[in-house]
Amino acid sequence: MTSLLVLQQVRAVDPARQLDAVVDIVIERGRIIRIGRGAASELSPSEHVKFVRGPLTVFPGFIDLHTHLREPGHEYKEDIASGLKAAAHGGFVAVCSMPNTKPVNDRRSITDAIVARAKEVGGTRLHPIGAVTVGSEGHKLADIGDMRLAGAVAISDDGRCVTSSSVMRHALEYARTFDMPVIQHAEDHALTEGAQMNEGAVSTRIGLRGWPRVAEDIIVARDVLLAEATGARYHVAHVSTHGAVRILREAKSRGIRVTAEVTPHHLLLTDESVIGYNTACKVNPPLRLAEDVAALREALADGTIDCIATDHAPHSGLEKDCEFSAAAPGMLGLELCVPLLYGFVLDGTLRIERFVDALSQAPAGIVSLERPTLAEGARADITVIDPEARWHIDPSKFRSKSKNTPFAGREVRGRVTMTIVGGNVAFEFGS
Ligand code: DOR
Repeated sequence: MTSLLVLQQVRAVDPARQLDAVVDIVIERGRIIRIGRGAASELSPSEHVKFVRGPLTVFPGFIDLHTHLREPGHEYKEDIASGLKAAAHGGFVAVCSMPNTKPVNDRRSITDAIVARAKEVGGTRLHPIGAVTVGSEGHKLADIGDMRLAGAVAISDDGRCVTSSSVMRHALEYARTFDMPVIQHAEDHALTEGAQMNEGAVSTRIGLRGWPRVAEDIIVARDVLLAEATGARYHVAHVSTHGAVRILREAKSRGIRVTAEVTPHHLLLTDESVIGYNTACKVNPPLRLAEDVAALREALADGTIDCIATDHAPHSGLEKDCEFSAAAPGMLGLELCVPLLYGFVLDGTLRIERFVDALSQAPAGIVSLERPTLAEGARADITVIDPEARWHIDPSKFRSKSKNTPFAGREVRGRVTMTIVGGNVAFEFGS
């Protein structure tokens, strides 16, 4: 049995330690026991020592704050086993799973079942997010304390907005006593009834009902005021508008406890992608305008948006191979995120330290998980990429049960080659 795992002569990048150097990393019994130049020089390959070499870059393990795993209830789209395999394939050591399962994860028995199933599956860790309200219906608070005890790391009614100011206020107050964030899907439903895509010139031209950007901004603005009034931790899911960015920037400058995430698709695509009624581009919130994309990129680079989250939303062909208005919103993210966004590091949109922080230490901090780091004694949660790889996205290679992505065929740079979770190899390219 292999007892030592050695990453030899790899570029290690860890913003928390201001580390960017070529080093050896020696892993034993789940921990990094040595890291440094020549740290593995006296070791030689044997049945007990596995060496990994190559022009590789090594990061503290990536964590996704926003994953839909569909179990219980919609296992034909994804289940915990396929979702966690997809996560490992995409370089994620942990994912936080959204509660819009069937039934909704709004009580301890469901949270317990999800946690137990994830333990059985192994590999990438799962941290459930509990619902804010019973059935995510927006009225009565769910069993938040009980779900916290069962392992929930945050609460959210994702997919639906907590519309009532009173319910949101109580959710924030309650979550504050557990030091958990409330994650909001910011959408004023009164403004988005029947909406299929962003409201603008494109929606007018192709005749689809629009989702105005202000429907997001209104909720973020109100919630920032509630977060200020309650002193609770508030996190905005999948920010998509430049208006929301402006509100967040101002809130942060005043010291309010707000955080935010952005998805790869909102950083890369605009509403123009919907022309041709491509259901793979139907997503909630919808793809916006070039000025929004520019504001999101800038906000991610300067830290106004704390982290990148995938909003991995698997749907089967049944829900996507149909007319646009009948299609389910959402697209895959776990196996696409790193290769789609590593290009930002290469083209200078994001400094490599910010890219790593946004995928690793920032999300860990938001949901109070142990922050992955490349340090002696730290738990070995590590993402390894081949930064030189140039390849084409091929959904037939996905571990996810679903294939709904508009990025099929896109040429990308950078490939996840290994995901190490607590010292165990959860995914290795080519094996
Ligand atoms: O596009 C989306 N799909 N947005 C959400 O908020 C929910 C998600 C889903 O569950 O499919």
